[in-house]
Amino acid sequence: MAAGNSFFGFVRGFEFRDSESIMEIIKCSLSEYYTKSLILDLYKTWPEAFIVYDNYDSVIGFIIGAKYSGTEGRILLFAVKKQFRRSGVGQNLLSRELRVMSGAGLSTVRLEVRTDNESGIKFYKNNGFSIISTLKNYYSDLSDAYLMWKII
Ligand SMILES: CC(C)(COP(=O)(O)OP(=O)(O)OC[C@H]1O[C@@H](n2cnc3c(N)ncnc32)[C@H](O)[C@@H]1OP(=O)(O)O)[C@@H](O)C(=O)NCCC(=O)NCCS
Repeated sequence: MAAGNSFFGFVRGFEFRDSESIMEIIKCSLSEYYTKSLILDLYKTWPEAFIVYDNYDSVIGFIIGAKYSGTEGRILLFAVKKQFRRSGVGQNLLSRELRVMSGAGLSTVRLEVRTDNESGIKFYKNNGFSIISTLKNYYSDLSDAYLMWKII
């Protein structure tokens, strides 16, 4: 079985026809509001870093990366549909993203996660990320974020 694939789907690059599925996952899984035009702008900025998981029927998860500096990447948005979590989909998406980033010459990666997002924090810690600081009032509802970081 090819790396990044599993018995019920595969990772691939974002395509415009995926937009509605992505917006639906965002609405159900993320607490911040993002417009479709922002999502498409992020895609245009670095297409290879916008990766989706396709289960042969629909898109069930996605990750969007960006360049934070000449050497550092940033995970901007990342979610898997609730009913498909804990099946390795997130792991496949993150692994592909980190390969894209290291292939682009980046050596570290950062991300922000809500301090009360226990599953997200566990997921990232299991992937070698460390909490390096707390960002007070980071989100629009004024809740805090952890800044997490990893060498890739
Ligand atoms: C974070 C997220 C993307 C992980 O996706 P996923 O497909 O469920 O992750 P995986 O199945 O690949 O999990 C890989 C490992 O991470 C850890 N993990 C993931 N979810 C966990 C949870 N709820 N509790 C404890 N550990 C967890 C486990 O070690 C897991 O391996 P295991 O299932 O073999 O024990 C998903 O939970 C999600 O979409 N959350 C809502 C949005 C979000 O929080 N996004 C990230 C922050 S911006």
